[in-house]
Amino acid sequence: MEEIKTKILEKIFQKKKSLENISIKSLFEANPHRFEDFSFEYNKVLFDFSKNIIDEESLNYLIEFAEKSNLVENINDMFLGKKINFTENRAVLHTALRNLSGEQIFVDGKDISKDIKVELNKALNFAENLRNGIHLGCTGKKIKNVVNIGIGGSHLGPDMVCTALNKYSGDITVHFVSNVDPFDIEQVLKIVDPENTVFLIASKTFTTQETMANANKAKRWFLDRMSEPDFVAFHFAALSTNVRACKDFGVSESNIFGFWDWVGGRYSVWSVIGLSIAISIGSANFMRFLKGGYDMDMHFRNQPLNQNIPVLMALLGFWYNEFWNAETYAVIPYDQNLLKFSEFLQQLDMESNGKRINRSGEVVKYNTGPILWGTIGTNSQHSFFQLIHQGTRFIPVDFLACVNTGSEDIEQHKILLSNFVAQTEALMLGKSEAEVQEELKSENFSNDEIELLKPHKVFPGNKPTNVIIYNELTPETLGMLIALYEHKVFVQGVLWEINSFDQWGVELGKILAKKILSELQIGKIDNKHDGSTKGIMKFLFDNFKS
Ligand code: F6P
Repeated sequence: MEEIKTKILEKIFQKKKSLENISIKSLFEANPHRFEDFSFEYNKVLFDFSKNIIDEESLNYLIEFAEKSNLVENINDMFLGKKINFTENRAVLHTALRNLSGEQIFVDGKDISKDIKVELNKALNFAENLRNGIHLGCTGKKIKNVVNIGIGGSHLGPDMVCTALNKYSGDITVHFVSNVDPFDIEQVLKIVDPENTVFLIASKTFTTQETMANANKAKRWFLDRMSEPDFVAFHFAALSTNVRACKDFGVSESNIFGFWDWVGGRYSVWSVIGLSIAISIGSANFMRFLKGGYDMDMHFRNQPLNQNIPVLMALLGFWYNEFWNAETYAVIPYDQNLLKFSEFLQQLDMESNGKRINRSGEVVKYNTGPILWGTIGTNSQHSFFQLIHQGTRFIPVDFLACVNTGSEDIEQHKILLSNFVAQTEALMLGKSEAEVQEELKSENFSNDEIELLKPHKVFPGNKPTNVIIYNELTPETLGMLIALYEHKVFVQGVLWEINSFDQWGVELGKILAKKILSELQIGKIDNKHDGSTKGIMKFLFDNFKS
């Protein structure tokens, strides 16, 4: 790391030491305008960073570090299509998929904006034709079910978005199959009818073992019931960069929707991988979703670093990860519609920044990507919040909440919102020994009982939280939220000097699984396996039902 950056890190470290014994509560007491100073409103969304262990000086140092990391240049390189994914020699241009400005974007000297438009329009037409009953099943029935078969980025984004925007859905039911556990697809095949079902085989590579196993199973199931192989053309579509393999599978050319190697799997929800979303919510709403992502791109590209929401979120995460030993962070939406949001973010963040080698090929000497976890509130309060409040780990939390859900039961929604607000306050304030003592006294506990209970009832507090509140979960809002986290992950990758866009770490397991599968198929264990692996395989052989 350059000397100048090391010096800034040292300043940040000293600053962290000075903040160790200062509570967030006291920072509020010292500055009556802290909320105004550390929060932003953007497109009617409130981003409140004020309940963090941060002051102006530490934030300025962090911004200085980002500047010296050439963050602005890195942002431009990404948007302009420079091959920043250098280990795969690829540009990183998911932002081009939602670029509604009409701006030309070049990859290898070719303007890609036209191709993007062509594939988008083709996919949106297909979606509308299904929704309007123009594309019928092979026996003339209107399509009622769509099954998206894909995994990782070809599953998590579409599934999460369809769940989140369910209130916009039409009368086609979208099902998702991802796991190679046969139980997953069998559950879906039990409830759909081949005459009114379309399968979307979603795979960037069209080689992924799980997806191809499920796609082949779906095809066999379909042909067993519909006999004529040509009928596959009515009921199967493919979303992929590998057109040859889609054709070999039997998908007709008109049902193949393409995208490009410069769209990473976990960033592909904006591409034709999002076809299931367009079928569910309609093409106009899908365009609104793209617009939300585009708006966040504009903010990210144009705002100065100290007013740039993804940059600030990234810097706060960096601060806790590097200087406060936070190994994990939780994302808790107080919004049932965002049930699958944290799961989606896990791939986005952990597959992107789960790296140990920097851009110069050296092992890094610091922590990189944190462990991201979480689920919706209030369910999380009754499962793992105990650990966040009173455990030994330091866990920053992002809270998300929706002001108007569309539910008519506003009074019950207020119960949800009160819990959301209360948790952020409780995590910050905690409960002191004196408060516990006072409380137990007022409840008439004896002195001995008070001494016994007191330490267990103290909450240290001072747990940092970010709060994001949106007025309504519209397609635009969701697009904006996803793009926000994408850019946060990008910024952190720049600060850690890693390539956030490859994922070599998933390869080894895939290769070994293929070898082990062939051994399971022929019933012979390779003696070169270690003792445990051989023992596990023997146990499987001994217990397989023939
Ligand atoms: O898990 C590795 C990975 O390559 C992900 O990055 C990707 O989203 C997933 O597999 C699925 O890949 P594909 O879309 O090519 O089937």
